[in-house]
Amino acid sequence: MNILGIETSCDETAAAVVAEGKTILTSTVASSSDFFKKYGGVVPEIAARKQVEYMTPVLSETMQGFSKDDIDAIAVTVGPGLIGSLLVGVETAKTLSMVWNKPIIPVNHVLAHMYANFINSYKQEEIGKKNEKSLVASRLLPIAFPAISLVVSGGHTELYLMKNERELTWIGGTLDDAAGEAFDKTARLLGFENRGGAAIEEAASKFKITNDKLQIHLPRPMLHDHTLNFSFSGLKTAVMREWKKYSTAISEKQEAKSLINAFSWEIQEAITDVLVKKTIAAAEKYNAKSILLSGGVAANSRLREKFHQQLITSRFSLIAPPTKLCPDNAVSIAACAYYLGKPVSWKEVEAKPDLSVEV
Ligand code: KG4
Ligand code: ZN
Repeated sequence: MNILGIETSCDETAAAVVAEGKTILTSTVASSSDFFKKYGGVVPEIAARKQVEYMTPVLSETMQGFSKDDIDAIAVTVGPGLIGSLLVGVETAKTLSMVWNKPIIPVNHVLAHMYANFINSYKQEEIGKKNEKSLVASRLLPIAFPAISLVVSGGHTELYLMKNERELTWIGGTLDDAAGEAFDKTARLLGFENRGGAAIEEAASKFKITNDKLQIHLPRPMLHDHTLNFSFSGLKTAVMREWKKYSTAISEKQEAKSLINAFSWEIQEAITDVLVKKTIAAAEKYNAKSILLSGGVAANSRLREKFHQQLITSRFSLIAPPTKLCPDNAVSIAACAYYLGKPVSWKEVEAKPDLSVEV
């Protein structure tokens, strides 16, 4: 079964064809994130206009070498996300469904992230960073259930218990900011541009290399409570307070860079400490056999490294997609539709910006 996936929940315009929920036949992603650098965050109006512009070229690139007869169903993100952006994907998918006479499958974007872990057809060049080889190799084995799935993105930090590929229950999530949001907001305080998670990771890696003395200490919110919930909004305030204290005391440019690197390291440590501890607590509570990571923040090497270190002596296996499949993409949408999808008539499909992730 070949599913054409369409994803436009935030600032990406993506389409992909996935066979049997696990083999990528083709995938295209266009991003408008460069347009937001000067604004410090996604501007919904611009994102939607860019999606209107990119949708047709992205679809035509994705469908190269395929005809409508190769497609069995169309999957589309209906929410959660930005309303203007969602509408572009949803209306495109409805039109294709009507004209091609194919079933349409509405997909929850947050649940879809975790289905990037069900893809097992990686080309060597898709395996980006060094430490991904073992993770990807473990992915070629069937996932052992029950599994705990951590979805960490710009808008969501959610934990799910997966009994099998099709049965999942929400067991915890963030009470305020998402982990990606915490990366982005604190990155902005340090002077980085839009989507700061990757910038923080890069600066943090320089801190390690230069071995600067670390004096900054940030809180690890809710690290020791007994729930499976997260809270990251206090981190931003703590960074603001500490940054004021240290940044006024430095004069040279070189010192400023070292300080940014040191802050980045500590921000990354604080966020990843909480994510790892809570996820492992969930795995222990539910006697899980595997831990699945997904979402944009799952691309973070330090997060993966910490999970590896923690799990080396435990009975859980760690599964994460290649970094390319962590941020928004349409492969996950098509894969999710294969496992969870309920085909409906195009007349019943509508964009739902506030779609619940608590299933
Ligand atoms: O899943 P995603 O592409 O979009 C949403 O659904 O929100 O996630 C985007 C988030 C952003 O907050 C971005 O800063 C974060 O993922 N991110 C990272 C890294 N790469 C992207 N966070 C930490 N380390 C990274 N390497
Ligand atoms: Zn996402």
